[in-house]
Amino acid sequence: MRKQIAAANWKMNLTYQQGEKLLDDILGAEIVLKPHQQTIFAVPSPYLLMTRSEVETEQNYEAAAQNCYHKKSGAYTGEISVEMLRSINVNYCVIGHSERREYFSETNSMLADKVNLCLEKNIAPIFCCGEPLNIRDAGTQNEFVAVQLKESLFHLSAEQMKNFIIAYEPIWAIGTGKTATTEQAQEMHAHLRSIIAGQYNSEVAETVSILYGGSVKANNAKEIFGCKDVDGGLVGGASLVAADFIEIIKTLK
Ligand code: PGA
Repeated sequence: MRKQIAAANWKMNLTYQQGEKLLDDILGAEIVLKPHQQTIFAVPSPYLLMTRSEVETEQNYEAAAQNCYHKKSGAYTGEISVEMLRSINVNYCVIGHSERREYFSETNSMLADKVNLCLEKNIAPIFCCGEPLNIRDAGTQNEFVAVQLKESLFHLSAEQMKNFIIAYEPIWAIGTGKTATTEQAQEMHAHLRSIIAGQYNSEVAETVSILYGGSVKANNAKEIFGCKDVDGGLVGGASLVAADFIEIIKTLK
């Protein structure tokens, strides 16, 4: 069975102390994950070491960076390299979140560089894709996400694409309280899997975990995660509340 993942995306929220308490509360629930299940906390960079040490003794709990820079090292004040992440044993990094694309002008080709740098250092990217509302309204979302995958991922080998993690996040559903319907989610996830199968093969496509992101809550996770091609979620708002995120972890298939 491919990996089923509950990924928390704290974004630019919580103080260090609040983050520590949140992790303690979630880990204190002692949810034992099955071998194919995983919980990942994408936390602000200054909290990575603390998060790493909190999850160290837990089976299948991991820390992730929310971003990395698309150059190896050098005079890029304020940026964080994959080498830095590797040096503190961070094994995951969110790449291309829609907020990064929108507010920090990240392009598909920049994201391809980030993916390459991560893979070089054995850091698994959690690659985000998804369409804005005007594209959904125009009905061209399938073509839109296909270009995102093609330009940022399809230079990878089949071996590199195996077990890859993608998060589909319709931008119109992020932080809006509006989720895609289960039909819309399943349809898009199946579409993403089919374009990966077309580029590689269906065996590779079947190993790719495709998470849904966009207003996943404790009360809708079951329905969304229940879709055949949805392999968990990338969760923003609801990951900041221990009881809610605990419920979401418990909902993993
Ligand atoms: P949300 O955020 O759950 O608050 O909609 C999801 C995300 O942007 O990762």
